[in-house]
Amino acid sequence: MASPSPRLDAVLHGPGRFHALVHLPQTTSTNAELANRPELPTGVCVVADVQTAGRGRAGRSWENHPDDPDGSLLLSVLVEPPLDLALTPLAAGLAVADAIGRQVGDAPRANVALKWPNDVLLRGRKVAGLLAEHHPATRAPDRSVIGARVIVGIGIDVDWRDVQRTDATSAWTSLGEVLGRSVDRWDLMADLLIALDTWLGQLDQPSHHVLDIYRARCTTLGRRVRVGVGGDEVVGHATDLDSSGALLVTTDAGAVHAVRAGDVDHVRGV
Ligand code: BTN
Repeated sequence: MASPSPRLDAVLHGPGRFHALVHLPQTTSTNAELANRPELPTGVCVVADVQTAGRGRAGRSWENHPDDPDGSLLLSVLVEPPLDLALTPLAAGLAVADAIGRQVGDAPRANVALKWPNDVLLRGRKVAGLLAEHHPATRAPDRSVIGARVIVGIGIDVDWRDVQRTDATSAWTSLGEVLGRSVDRWDLMADLLIALDTWLGQLDQPSHHVLDIYRARCTTLGRRVRVGVGGDEVVGHATDLDSSGALLVTTDAGAVHAVRAGDVDHVRGV
């Protein structure tokens, strides 16, 4: 299919790992679309204008712009599992932050940051989220082997200036609201694919700096946090990440919890 933007076209025809675009007017979820189509090769990117059952982390839903396909980027990419599989979500988060940072340029106080594990914040509000899913090798109905794959689903709120926020202190924002101008979702996607290729490539190196760079850009570290883990809650200081990317939370009593998945609230005060 022809790409909707020359920049994206150049990326898809370039040396990187992404080489095909499936652009759907509507689907349930671009992650589900890739999961349900085992015939698709790695390197495919699925973009939808609308998702009817967009999936967020922890079983939540993901909303697209209510009536403008250009207002959201809803993208899933299919890749081979990198050598350092555990850090895939963090590396992909860095890629999203880079792509957003390119759009933001030197816009005053726009401040692109990562909230653990991979929410991307602009001026302290969420502008993008990411859902990475590992599918181990399996067999197709005809008994042929489908190799292990990773689906990285990314949702970016591109321009929601025409959507009335119900709450002035909304935890959400969009690039358009921060920059005061429209942003081309296809050019944003081109930047994103370049960044994803770079950061996922890092994870294939026997030695890499993904964790160090993530630490430097993660606004959660050093903060007091409240983390929901299963039915429990851990409150303490986010002190570091372990080698698998788990968040280390030190409670006031000095216990250290390694949080592998969970929802983090940044708590004000010390
Ligand atoms: C989160 O922050 O909760 C993760 C959100 C991930 C949303 C994207 S939109 C494209 C892809 N398809 C989905 O169903 N989810 C991801």
